[in-house]
Amino acid sequence: MIQLSNVTKQFVSGERVVCQVFRDIDYNIDASCSISISGRSGSGKSTLLRMLAGLDLNYLGDYYFKRNKLEKNIEKMATHRLKHIGIVTQKYQLLSDRNCYDNIAFPLKCLKHDKKTIKNKVEEIMELLDLNEFKDRYPYELSGGQCQRIAIARAIVKSPDILLADEPTGALDKASEYEILKIFDLLISKGQTLVVATHSDVVAKHCTSNYIIEDYKIQSIK
Ligand SMILES: Nc1ncnc2c1ncn2[C@@H]1O[C@H](COP(=O)(O)OP(=O)(O)OP(=O)(O)O)[C@@H](O)[C@H]1O
Ligand SMILES: [Mg+2]
Repeated sequence: MIQLSNVTKQFVSGERVVCQVFRDIDYNIDASCSISISGRSGSGKSTLLRMLAGLDLNYLGDYYFKRNKLEKNIEKMATHRLKHIGIVTQKYQLLSDRNCYDNIAFPLKCLKHDKKTIKNKVEEIMELLDLNEFKDRYPYELSGGQCQRIAIARAIVKSPDILLADEPTGALDKASEYEILKIFDLLISKGQTLVVATHSDVVAKHCTSNYIIEDYKIQSIK
């Protein structure tokens, strides 16, 4: 579904290479697979997800989506992301001045869906993820685990082709991690393509393929 072809990623400051992250990688994510990405802190997990999301365009190499090469242009990538990619981060990044319903509805409003469609889709996803009790609550009235469940609902309400999650359980206790894993299992069983960066072996075990970032490459873990 997404292919990174011949990609080299460095952070540079003027002439100086501050950090080499990837060197000549080819990485292909197939539809309906669930992938964990591990690697030591600083190995490049978040950088990879930002590249897959089209948030980081500053690298050598090409980005293909469903075999089409996409231009590394900020506006075009933003449109691509809004239509096709759901993102969940460790810090949830919910809109603090909107309740849970409006947080989940937000991407659909950006996509200019009509009110009735938005209502139906938000209610469907709240039912699916068992979030009805939080409908009218604001993010500051929720626990971290509950915020994360709302963030996942917001990421998947638009039925993205791929869900990217960057350490989604990193800030959570075991019980909340379990709640998130239940949601991932449900999504995986429905064929959702998922890429999750994680330090947790428990999270990795829920995925069908496991990769590690090492020596500037992304390697499959057998
Ligand atoms: N803006 C930047 N400028 C320079 N170097 C950067 C920048 N952002 C990240 N890096 C470097 O790129 C490397 C990869 O960072 P990244 O955040 O992707 O690591 P990570 O695997 O997600 O780590 P963690 O497990 O701690 O979240 C790190 O060594 C980091 O120092
Ligand atoms: Mg990271």
